[in-house]
Amino acid sequence: MNPQRPQLVHDLNQIRDIVRKAQSAGKKVGLVPTMGALHQGHLSLVEQSASQCDLTVVTIFVNPTQFAQDEDLAKYPRTLESDLELLSQFSPVIVLAPEAADVYPAGSSTAVQPPDVGRLWEGEKRPDHFAGVATIVLKLFNMVPAEIAFFGQKDYQQACVIQQMVKDLNVPMEIQVCPIVREPDGLAMSSRNRYLSQSERKTATVISQTLEIAEQMMREGETETQVILDQCMQELTAAHVDSIDYVTIADPITLELVQTIAGPVVILIAVYVGKTRLIDNRVIQL
Ligand code: PAJ
Repeated sequence: MNPQRPQLVHDLNQIRDIVRKAQSAGKKVGLVPTMGALHQGHLSLVEQSASQCDLTVVTIFVNPTQFAQDEDLAKYPRTLESDLELLSQFSPVIVLAPEAADVYPAGSSTAVQPPDVGRLWEGEKRPDHFAGVATIVLKLFNMVPAEIAFFGQKDYQQACVIQQMVKDLNVPMEIQVCPIVREPDGLAMSSRNRYLSQSERKTATVISQTLEIAEQMMREGETETQVILDQCMQELTAAHVDSIDYVTIADPITLELVQTIAGPVVILIAVYVGKTRLIDNRVIQL
């Protein structure tokens, strides 16, 4: 066994013991929940945790309850070996990769109803998604009772849902949201980018370019979001993205639609390039 590899744990009792022992020795524990197929975006969260905590637990679990019937659960990339290899650069890290049968034993039926901030956008396009996310994240928090959990701004609405859930349910966990890590051409890193063909990969760069154009229009004084959104739709259509789930300008806290810009906003985009669904966002504070 490569001694630098992180310890791999499957057992839920074992991980709780490890965390509790570390904490009784005065160590601070960080948690980075993932579905694996790790890339630099995930690693930035691990790096952030490693810089603030004495022990980092990275969970790798492709959570079935957040995928709809017609989504990519079966073909979602599972790359445990290379994930462990990538995590070898950080220490001390423990990987928890639980079995689905242990996470959702027969008869388990309790779920978290996501907060209102999960209602629009992703919530409309993927109706049961945030219930699945909120439920697994709360379960992971209970399995790994860390002090801080790290999430990416890449999934902006997901981060809002988790922050609100933690408040609403008095969960004793600090949530930190880390910046989006991008490819050199601007495409936000995502495990799903590996589905893209070469030409789709080129098309996908329009997403971050559209965010840039929208920000530019705001900086030049445009305050009517409809004018900006029309331009965004035009950019995305001209680049031949295959369909647009939504492009919106919203309040960065409530995620309600903004009509006239008078403060900070978030631009949220979800599109299909080929069969691959990609999301991105940018917070703009003029
Ligand atoms: P996953 O898509 O694997 O992402 C795990 C974490 O990495 C999330 O917090 C996500 O926002 C963050 N992340 C992904 N790409 C990023 C990027 N380019 N820059 C910065 N952070 C990035 O999100 C999930 O898994 C799941 O929904 C999960 C929370 C694990 C629950 O199953």
